[in-house]
Amino acid sequence: MSELSTTSHPPVAAIILAAGKSTRMKSSVAKPLHTICGDTMASHVIRACREAGVERIVMIVGHQSDVVINALTELGVEFAVQTHQKGTANAVQAAEGLLGDWPGDIITLAADTPLLTAESVRALINLRNSTTAPMAMLTARLDNPTGYGRVIRNEDGTVNRIVEETDASPIEKQCKECNPSLYAFLGEYLWSALKLVGNSNAKGEYYLTDLVEIFSRQQKHVVAKPVEDVDEVLGVNSQQDLATAAAVMRKRLLNRLMAAGTVVVDPASTYIDIDVEVGQDTTIEPFCMLLRGTRIGTGCIIGPYTRIEQSKLGNDVRAIASWISYSTMDDGAKIGPYSQLRPGSHLASGARIGNFVEVKNSTLGPSAQASHLSYIGDALVGAGVNIGAGTITCNYDGYFKHQTVIGDNAFIGSNSTLIAPVSVGAGAFVAAGSPVTGEIPENSLVIARQRASIKEDWARAYRVRKRAEKQQQSTKG
Ligand code: UD1
Ligand code: CA
Repeated sequence: MSELSTTSHPPVAAIILAAGKSTRMKSSVAKPLHTICGDTMASHVIRACREAGVERIVMIVGHQSDVVINALTELGVEFAVQTHQKGTANAVQAAEGLLGDWPGDIITLAADTPLLTAESVRALINLRNSTTAPMAMLTARLDNPTGYGRVIRNEDGTVNRIVEETDASPIEKQCKECNPSLYAFLGEYLWSALKLVGNSNAKGEYYLTDLVEIFSRQQKHVVAKPVEDVDEVLGVNSQQDLATAAAVMRKRLLNRLMAAGTVVVDPASTYIDIDVEVGQDTTIEPFCMLLRGTRIGTGCIIGPYTRIEQSKLGNDVRAIASWISYSTMDDGAKIGPYSQLRPGSHLASGARIGNFVEVKNSTLGPSAQASHLSYIGDALVGAGVNIGAGTITCNYDGYFKHQTVIGDNAFIGSNSTLIAPVSVGAGAFVAAGSPVTGEIPENSLVIARQRASIKEDWARAYRVRKRAEKQQQSTKG
């Protein structure tokens, strides 16, 4: 798999083109920042370069450059600004100030090909290094080549030139070998050749693709090799392309999970981001979303209809039709159906949340349970606590949040309101329907409700009276 590890080569730098304005996306978001499977397109391309061993990465920005630089600065790449978008050759030239005396190879890619893998980047680097050619490129044989530049080869198989669709003759348009814009250059040749690029073409732009013809004319070969998987070179230029690319990436990520022993009942309805780990023998039922930063152990059953984000689930966890965000569930914990763990929640081992329960910034100790219809916010709930149906923690006074503490093995009767700050001692018993505040001692009973008053025979008399009133009214009418 790792072609690079078997071939030694000079250091490699990458130039990623991302300065263009994307009219076809019809979006105020800069194109490199559109996301696929939880990460920006630009970041996917950067990752492929890094995994392939690229040492320096320069992004060419222009349109919305401030926003793009701001969003990507934490990725540790360098930026060069292309002030006017005069074409792809002009864009690469913007990196000369940074990479003008780079001693090794330079690869150039576009930020709008998020499906590119590290393997293909390595293949490109190795292709260049396998010859003395100053330029190597990958190509793609596409059934529908519309929109791509076409690769025109010499009889010996080397590449003669690339012709853009807008400049191609009818015969050239029939060529199905396309240019995915993935090139590798010997650095020293790149900068001098760029100076020879003109703009006498249909668009009046400086085309990077012209370098092929420039090298050919200098009797320097350009080598090319088709990519194995044409999905990799899908260029995202519209919202439709974005959705198509996301579907391909999801499929890859799910295949990786299944290959490692996760059961994915219906890949077509399972949504997954990068940076998700799921253990062996865990079953993902249909209609689940596993978002970035999710870690799930072994032997769990997730779904159907569960959404998990930035959360860690241990082994043998069950999560049915529930939303779990920025939270933790330890081994054997259960949730759902129809419940929510909001940020900062922790269900210790064996804790159980049933249906219609919302938990926020709270911990439920081992084997604690809240089976029905509760809100538990800013609470510390001990081991073995039972929280009855309809229990509400009143954690907010309109200005501040307050904490509820419930000691081990306490019993909270149904429909209690715990008015925070409040603490219920270990083993205490809160009678159903009680509003509780303050400090409840351990093992005590707290009951806070009026004794019912009973009026015998009242209901029968009431009905007699009301029926008579109604009859009187209808005879009048
Ligand atoms: C380009 C290629 C074409 C290839 C296709 C593959 C050229 C002339 N054509 O066409 O042969 O088949 O990619 O997807 O290179 N950019 C800048 N500055 C500019 C112009 C573009 O940074 O002045 C960036 C864009 O943001 C984009 C990339 O370069 O990331 C490619 O530009 P785009 O306009 O999409 O080129 P295509 O027409 O797709
Ligand atoms: Ca493009």
